[in-house]
Amino acid sequence: MKRILKRLALSLLVLFGLIQLKPVHRENPPVSSDLVAPADVKAILRRACYDCHSNETNWPWYAYVAPVSWLVQHDVEEGRGELNFSIWGNYDAGRRLSKASSALEEIDEGRMPLAPYLALHADAKLSPEDVAALKKWVDGLE
Ligand code: HEC
Repeated sequence: MKRILKRLALSLLVLFGLIQLKPVHRENPPVSSDLVAPADVKAILRRACYDCHSNETNWPWYAYVAPVSWLVQHDVEEGRGELNFSIWGNYDAGRRLSKASSALEEIDEGRMPLAPYLALHADAKLSPEDVAALKKWVDGLE
């Protein structure tokens, strides 16, 4: 029994080592036309959303350890695909409005920021004042 456990532990260790070899693309492409918004709104979005919805991701240490790195990379890729504040100026006015409105909706319904991210980034939690500031900003967009 002991021998089997030892072997199992060793195999897992080897497997863990091997999965580290799979390349993970942690890239921050250039910021082409970053969001222009009031300072308070920018600060809120930077704090709570930019890690997944911009090209200015702060890659945490666990983003370097597989298999968690795969999940982080996947979230960032998918997040940027949905909404990327680094290319905000490239969206036309209609798209900006619809993206800003759905951002608000996601926050209101508690879907964003993603729960696992919130668990690790307490400062990404939005206060009612933060949400009010975002609402005011979205209402002013046209
Ligand atoms: C940890 C990464 C992460 C963070 C932080 C994050 N998001 Fe997301 N976001 C995602 C991913 C992944 C998706 C695509 C999958 C999904 O909809 O769940 C997404 C999707 C979205 C969408 C599109 C939803 C849809 O289905 O139309 C909006 C809007 C959005 N996020 C807004 C925000 C806002 C606003 C914040 C900050 C308050 C935020 N997100 C923070 C990862 C993140």
